[in-house]
Amino acid sequence: MELVYYPDDRLFAETGNVGVFDEVLQNILQAMVGVMHDNYGIGLAAPQVGLTQRMFVVKIPEDKEARLFVNPVILETSADTWEYEEGCLSIPEIYAPVQRSQTVLVRAQDQFGKKFTLEANGLLGRVILHEMDHLNGVLFIDHLSKDVREEQLILYNSIER
Ligand code: CO
Repeated sequence: MELVYYPDDRLFAETGNVGVFDEVLQNILQAMVGVMHDNYGIGLAAPQVGLTQRMFVVKIPEDKEARLFVNPVILETSADTWEYEEGCLSIPEIYAPVQRSQTVLVRAQDQFGKKFTLEANGLLGRVILHEMDHLNGVLFIDHLSKDVREEQLILYNSIER
């Protein structure tokens, strides 16, 4: 399992819900957690490793274990927002402030298919919204103004790898 980098088509592929919660799925989710850890990320969505299932993993610094979200649905987002600098494992070395809702209510299933609802705020809520975007082919740079987005992409393309 390997990270997919912007502008790879797989970041924009259509995704679909998971129907079978078997060992194969659980192994994929664990592998995603591994890729997230290895790259010092706090979130990773399936399209970032070339998969089309609607699922992502999150582990913010204060979490002891990774949180797994399968078939996530955003039920509510607060009207009040806050701005914070974001980056993305698929767009390395690019960081920019993004405005997002303060609080998010998300419903999802765990690796066994068990449903749960979570109200998250602060960094956790932000990461959930960022990863949720990935399932819809949306990247954090898409939340920037046109000028700033262009500026960041010029910078991204100028970095030698
Ligand atoms: Co990302």
